[in-house]
Amino acid sequence: MLVSPSILSADWSDLAGAVRTAEQGADWLHCDVMDGHFVPNLTFGAPMVAALHRLTKLPLDVHLMIDQPLAFLPAFAEAGTAIFTVHVEAPGVAGPGWPAPVRSRGEGGTDGPAREAKPHVIDLARLRETLATIRARGMRAGLALRPDTQLAEVEAVLDAVDVLLVMTVYPGFSGQPFLDGPLQTIARAAEWKRARGARFTIEVDGGIQGADTGPRAAQAGAEALVAGHGIYRQPDPAQAIRALKELRR
Ligand code: DX5
Ligand code: ZN
Repeated sequence: MLVSPSILSADWSDLAGAVRTAEQGADWLHCDVMDGHFVPNLTFGAPMVAALHRLTKLPLDVHLMIDQPLAFLPAFAEAGTAIFTVHVEAPGVAGPGWPAPVRSRGEGGTDGPAREAKPHVIDLARLRETLATIRARGMRAGLALRPDTQLAEVEAVLDAVDVLLVMTVYPGFSGQPFLDGPLQTIARAAEWKRARGARFTIEVDGGIQGADTGPRAAQAGAEALVAGHGIYRQPDPAQAIRALKELRR
């Protein structure tokens, strides 16, 4: 299993210490960028990613929960981003963005993709162009899905994706409880990969803990696990990384 500790849950007064923790066995370092528009929270931007890049050689796994992420592509590329992950639902990624943004389960979102839900109008050519633009800047192209987004909506562009990020919480905050619904999205993505010999990595983000939700995500087909509280808020973070690393399908 690939493990990507989320710096959002670390003690930012000791970023170097948080990086040293991640270097005890993790594969990537997950950086949650939020703009207060796409999600109801603000975090940090490219300067923080650049600072982390000066502290470590770990590939920086940057998760953009922002509108118009391509506007910041050069800044994040120069900051040392390895994986640039955008949300299909966000304005500027696959068109004007989805109407009536759902920010949490309480605000109308569901536990997982409803089977009968009407697909959103996605401009697939635009989405493909977005992903190609990311690759053209020398980064891996990540595509993130909120818990209520169906895999079927993006299957047509999966050949252009390097990392598929399936969210198991509504984006915005660390420390939220894991949602079961997206397990079916993970399983469907794993099956899609198997059937077509596709190469993208299935990454799962939100509420991952080594003891319970990590194993369930792994069983469904996760190949990389993000964990914030599940690593940085544990008594022994290095042990938490090792436990996640050992998970298999
Ligand atoms: C949520 C972020 C996650 C979060 C993970 O919006 O994308 O990466 O930091 O934190 P935990 O593992 O605590 O849910
Ligand atoms: Zn994230």
